[in-house]
Amino acid sequence: MSRKIAIYPGSFDPPTKGHLDLIARGSRIFDELVVAILRNPDKTPLFSVDERKEMIELLTAGYKNVRVDTFEGLTVDYATRLRATAVLRGIRAISDYEYELQMALMNRKLQPSLETVFMMPAEHYSYISSRLVREIAAMGGPVGALVPGLIEQRMRAKFGTAVRVNRKPKTRLSTSKRGTTKAKARKKES
Ligand code: PNS
Repeated sequence: MSRKIAIYPGSFDPPTKGHLDLIARGSRIFDELVVAILRNPDKTPLFSVDERKEMIELLTAGYKNVRVDTFEGLTVDYATRLRATAVLRGIRAISDYEYELQMALMNRKLQPSLETVFMMPAEHYSYISSRLVREIAAMGGPVGALVPGLIEQRMRAKFGTAVRVNRKPKTRLSTSKRGTTKAKARKKES
């Protein structure tokens, strides 16, 4: 029987825990899963295509049947070149459905033998999107629950922000201690 090859196309800017969840699910139902990063000259990404490729390779190193590639042009043409029979896409909520349905039907029109397979990420990842992750990280917010640790570090490096974690508020300091702490903070900022 022929090997079932699927591509998982997307922007992955940055890859999130939701993407990784989908890769894990896809790797279990296809013989080979190719994570395919679109080279899109119309977009100014946060991470270059090469950076995204390297990051996803590191994050998926444990999967024997997953590899990472980049492509330009139509997804259906790329899939045909790879002899892939399926396109894997994630659906998080009803709001994704309309766009994904339109894309799946258009791809079917362009290449009738190529099937789109939709999978749902774990429900606790269903609110994660790369766009929101970029926005939160750019403003110094915590993204540790949304992206793997490696991506969090790379984002902090990009934005030059310190890692912020949600901690319990500390008990109030005495006036003298407050002064010392503020003085220390001013020294650090300079
Ligand atoms: O992660 P994204 O940005 O939602 O992925 C969208 C992607 C890359 C799958 C889609 O834009 C795409 O397939 N682009 C390649 C060009 C193409 O084939 N366009 C026609 C789609 S019907």
